[in-house]
Formats: sequence, C-alpha cells, structure tokens
Amino acid sequence: MHGRNFTLINKNLSESGVEVLDLCSKSLFHTMLPKKIINDMKPDVVRTLNDPNAESYDLNLAGRIENGLQVKLDISQSGEGVSTFVKLAEDLGTSYVERFFGRTFGDSKAFEGKVTMNDIWIVSQRENDYNPLHIHNNASPAGLSGVVYIEVPQQLEDKDSSVVRRKDGQDGWLNIVFGTQTQVDMNNFAGPECFSFEPIPGRLLLFPQNTPHLVYPFKGSGDRICVAFNLNVWYRQSGITQFIDLLQGAGIEFEDYSRSRSKPGISQNKK
Ligand SMILES: [Fe+2]
Repeated sequence: MHGRNFTLINKNLSESGVEVLDLCSKSLFHTMLPKKIINDMKPDVVRTLNDPNAESYDLNLAGRIENGLQVKLDISQSGEGVSTFVKLAEDLGTSYVERFFGRTFGDSKAFEGKVTMNDIWIVSQRENDYNPLHIHNNASPAGLSGVVYIEVPQQLEDKDSSVVRRKDGQDGWLNIVFGTQTQVDMNNFAGPECFSFEPIPGRLLLFPQNTPHLVYPFKGSGDRICVAFNLNVWYRQSGITQFIDLLQGAGIEFEDYSRSRSKPGISQNKK
C-alpha cells in the first residue's frame, strides 16, 4: 500500500532514533485465502442459497437485499469446507485478540479465554441491493466481525485489484469507516479514516464488531456472494472487564452464558 519512499523515510527516522506513533487505536486484519478454502465452502453456500427452508436473516441484518438473499449458514448441516473455515476464523480472531493484548499490555498480560463463532450467514447481493452504514454485535460483550468473498459479478472485477485502494467507482465495494476524516487533509496531515475494499473471491477482512461499514449497490447481472460472521471473544481472566468479573464472581462460565440465550447473536441491533 505504501511506496518505497515511505519505507525508506521510516527506516531513516528509526535509525535516527525517531519513533513514529500512529494516532489511531483500532486494527483491521486483511488476507487473501487460498482458492481451495473458498472452493471447499462453495457447495454448502450454493446449497443454502437454493434451499427454500434456509433460515432468512433479513430481520437480523441491516442489508437492503430485495433481489438477492441473506440467509443463515447452518454449520451443523454443512461439510468439512465450512468447518475448516470456522476454525480458521476462530484462530485468526484469537491472533487478533492476542496481538491487541501484546500491543496494550506488552509482556505483562496475555489473553486467556476463547474466541468462538457466534453466527455465520450468507449475503447474495444482486443488482440494486445494498447494505447501509451499520455495525454488528455478539453474544459476548467483546467481539469481532468479518467477511469473506465467495463470488463476484464479472463487471465488478478489476484486473489490478490485489491491494486495498481507493477510487471513485465503488459499485459493490465495501467501505470500512473508522473516523470522521473522509478525505485527505493536507493542512493537518490526516489520511482518510475509511478503507475501500473491492470484493475479490478469497479476500477476508476481520475487524472489531462495532466498526461501521457499508456496501454500495452495483448495476448489471450476477451475484455478489459473501459469507459474513461474528466472533465471540470470551475473557477467562479477571481484571479485563467488569462484566466478566461479575460473571466469574457469580460462578457463571461463558459456555453457560451462551447456552442460556435462546438465539445467540440475535438482538435488537441490526447487523
Ligand atoms: Fe455488516
């Protein structure tokens, strides 16, 4: 994303003893999954989209999906491809939290707890469907959210799209907003607090559950299919949040708390 000059300037600053601290507090994980993982998930994604009895997720989601579909992906009815992905997402979520502990506490405190899939669903967006600015939530107070792209209409594909970029044409693109600075400010040296991601099969993004994001509509035929998910982050150590201390004080383990909810992840807040 950054050019050679940027890298060289940082190196020179570092060698001169100048430390640069970025004035932002959140992080986003971005990776491209191997084609095999996507191909192995696809049969269950297609089967679910074609299943008239698949559980609609319309009431739980913010998306204005009128031509396409948004349905729950039932892990118990799915094959190994989906289980592999769920494990991968949970592992990546664990790394995310471990990294945050490292950044926040240094070596003095490590993450003790568990990251578990709260819910996972498919959004098949068609022409004119869109997803307005929204956030997610989990059964646990702390949580992460993410998305992986499965299939994208041909007209949205851009041959030079391997990196995060910003440009004018954003049909079908995901925008992740992390501040109010929407454009570069050359007077106050602030970059835009918004990332735009072209949907590319295999692209996976992971971010804190309360990170606002939106998807623009697109024109033309084809399905823009993604799998979205929420990850619970359960702390199993005291002194991290008051709520977890309260649960632990009452002898309630996080598994018990999850089970006591009839429909984990379904809440008044739109995802
Ligand atoms: Fe979302």
